[in-house]
Amino acid sequence: MPLVEWNEQLSVGVPEMDQQHVKLIGMINRLHEAMRTGEAAGIQKTILGELVTYTKVHFAAEERMLDLRKYPHLAAHKLLHKYFTDKVVEMHERVVAGKMVSSVSMNTFLQDWLVKHIQHEDKKYGQYLCGVAC
Ligand SMILES: [Fe+2]
Ligand SMILES: [Fe+2]
Repeated sequence: MPLVEWNEQLSVGVPEMDQQHVKLIGMINRLHEAMRTGEAAGIQKTILGELVTYTKVHFAAEERMLDLRKYPHLAAHKLLHKYFTDKVVEMHERVVAGKMVSSVSMNTFLQDWLVKHIQHEDKKYGQYLCGVAC
């Protein structure tokens, strides 16, 4: 499975959010790498725990910004964030509990969901914000 790299095509036009997306993608790549090379389970748990924390930080920052800018689709956007957060929290809990988690399906889900979310949903708010302020 190829690693995802952030590129200009993923830009939502808000530098702070782009930087956070770069960091999130980097964390998912780091997790993928740790699993691929069979790094210690403790390291995988730590990275996944950090991903849980940073996912919450990023979504909260995005929602705060969209609330301030009166984004009309915020409620639906929040539901998408909640879905992903719940999934990542559940994965982390399973790994912490020592349960079997398929690293391929986990990494595929994380990458696919995040990239599609940025491409399709976050870019929508980018266009909205630009329409208001550009
Ligand atoms: Fe988002
Ligand atoms: Fe985002």
